Amino acid sequence: METRKLGHSDLHITPVGLGTWAIGGGDNPYGWGPQDDEESIATIRRGLDLGINWIETAAGYGKGHSEEVVAKAIAGRRDEVIVATKCGILWKEDGSDIYGHLKSDSIHREVEDSLRRLKVEVIDLYQIHWPLPDEDIEEGWSTIAELIKAGKVRYGGVSNFNVDQLKRIQAIHPITSLQPPYSMLVRDIETEILPFCHQNNIGVVVYSPMQAGLLTGKMTKERVAQFPDDDWRKGNPLFQEPELSINLELVEALRPIAARNGRSLAELAIAWVLRRPEVTAAIVGARRPDQIEQTSEAGEWKLSAEDITEINTLLSKRDEELSAVKK
Ligand SMILES: NC(=O)c1ccc[n+]([C@@H]2O[C@H](COP(=O)([O-])OP(=O)(O)OC[C@H]3O[C@@H](n4cnc5c(N)ncnc54)[C@H](OP(=O)(O)O)[C@@H]3O)[C@@H](O)[C@H]2O)c1
Repeated sequence: METRKLGHSDLHITPVGLGTWAIGGGDNPYGWGPQDDEESIATIRRGLDLGINWIETAAGYGKGHSEEVVAKAIAGRRDEVIVATKCGILWKEDGSDIYGHLKSDSIHREVEDSLRRLKVEVIDLYQIHWPLPDEDIEEGWSTIAELIKAGKVRYGGVSNFNVDQLKRIQAIHPITSLQPPYSMLVRDIETEILPFCHQNNIGVVVYSPMQAGLLTGKMTKERVAQFPDDDWRKGNPLFQEPELSINLELVEALRPIAARNGRSLAELAIAWVLRRPEVTAAIVGARRPDQIEQTSEAGEWKLSAEDITEINTLLSKRDEELSAVKK
């Protein structure tokens, strides 16, 4: 599979990386409902067999469980895989919610926990999960720089930062990558963030390119109605009326574009985010081997100008319908 250099680093990553949030499992307010660990391990191994060379996780996913599952899946294959994880989101003691915490002593503790759970000697890409609290981002980023110096981490990145926040931390230590949300339904990064990253040689690894499954063509109103209580999507506005119907209508309108190219809707969603030259790679979630089999090659599909124009028209129509119902 093709690889791309991530920002100024010497990490060369495949255009599709495997995201493991859902693999963290349910039974928490940010879970994805029940998930079988053996299936998760098989999914990650299948992703590696298909040529994906990096796995994205976080200490916060399943309260560390996602990292433990990643460790089992990559056992004996460490040389094949670039491991990216995140810090700075902690769970309240009673497990009821999460909060951002970027104090130095806490991140020093977190990195040791992640190294232990992942069973690796070094983390290839260590990212601040959220810029929370905002006043502590400099302290958090200085700590990442210390961890790089100490050899615990190879490169540092951030997630969910805006341009002002990137500017504030840039002088402390070079930023290897930004991880923002980006999909046909969430396009805020196009105006300021992507040009800034391009100008500053910051790699961009976008998350939720299929909008947590909504753009795959497999999501239906019936499925959404049956989401278990511990699937965070149940309470997300994109999955609730009036937005759900408008979003599913868009997906149906996209179907012929995927079909005439002999590709799936999931691949169309991923290829669409990868059309932007500033985007280094897409982080693609999967819970079963067949899901990653259907998406691992999306990076090889370069959308035609005609397809992009048609998609833009459909997105404008969806945006107009949405603002009309929100009035
Ligand atoms: N930094 C952050 O704040 C942040 C936030 C969100 C995500 N992320 C990262 O980005 C990764 C990807 O984002 P995401 O998992 O939220 O969303 P995504 O990649 O857009 O969607 C993944 C979900 O879509 C469904 N799916 C996957 N392949 C499919 C296929 N071939 N056909 C039909 N459905 C399929 C699965 O859910 P179902 O089978 O349940 O439908 C899967 O869990 C995460 O795992 C995480 O590593 C980071």
